[in-house]
Amino acid sequence: MKPSYRLLARAYATCERFIFWDALQRCRSAFIKDLPQRCLSIGEGDGRFAEALLKAHPDAQLEIVEPDEAMRKVARQRIPNLSFVQLAEAKPCDVVVLNFVLDLFNEDEAHRFLDQLPDHEIIIVGDFFPEEVEGKIPRKLAGTLIWIMYRFFALTTGLETKELPPTRRILESRDWTCIREQIQWGGFLRAQYWERHVSFPVKRTVLNWSIGPE
Ligand SMILES: C[S@@+](CC[C@H](N)C(=O)[O-])C[C@H]1O[C@@H](n2cnc3c(N)ncnc32)[C@H](O)[C@@H]1O
Repeated sequence: MKPSYRLLARAYATCERFIFWDALQRCRSAFIKDLPQRCLSIGEGDGRFAEALLKAHPDAQLEIVEPDEAMRKVARQRIPNLSFVQLAEAKPCDVVVLNFVLDLFNEDEAHRFLDQLPDHEIIIVGDFFPEEVEGKIPRKLAGTLIWIMYRFFALTTGLETKELPPTRRILESRDWTCIREQIQWGGFLRAQYWERHVSFPVKRTVLNWSIGPE
């Protein structure tokens, strides 16, 4: 069954802030000021990445793939002139943005999803990485939080996925390199900037609990 955000779309930002305050939005907007012109945001949700991008780059060429009607409606209320497309119709672009989207898929589904993307040079990922927490947050606690979130999404949207795919391994196996990473919550939350066919090491920025995006 395809998940439906009908019950959640309007309350999505509020629910998120209840647990994470502004950490997820900082993750979504981590690399915005460095993004090139042609951007495809997939699974945009309620429009908060688009809003931040267009505020920073009013002339950005932004296309959005968002299959859920309720999410599209909330996004349009936020920014009336958004350009929604089907994935198959999306134009080649400079950057594909995947904020909290790969976590909808298992490993095989994630590969099939990535196979469908139009030509692009950069991938931005924002997501949870409970296996990579460092220091402050115990891995078990991070895993429990993920378990609770999947149960919450199962109840409210009908999402059937039950665990995160190995995002880093998936992208590395496809010849992508994470060259920049912005970390919050002890590595639980990561914004990642991926490029293809490069070998220089990752530049990592660790955000404290209270400072703004890079
Ligand atoms: C967990 S929400 C994340 C929303 C938003 N990107 C954010 O940062 O909060 C996942 C979003 O992906 C959308 N989605 C679900 N299946 C998708 C698919 N196959 N392709 C693209 N988007 C999809 C959902 O409708 C939903 O808006």
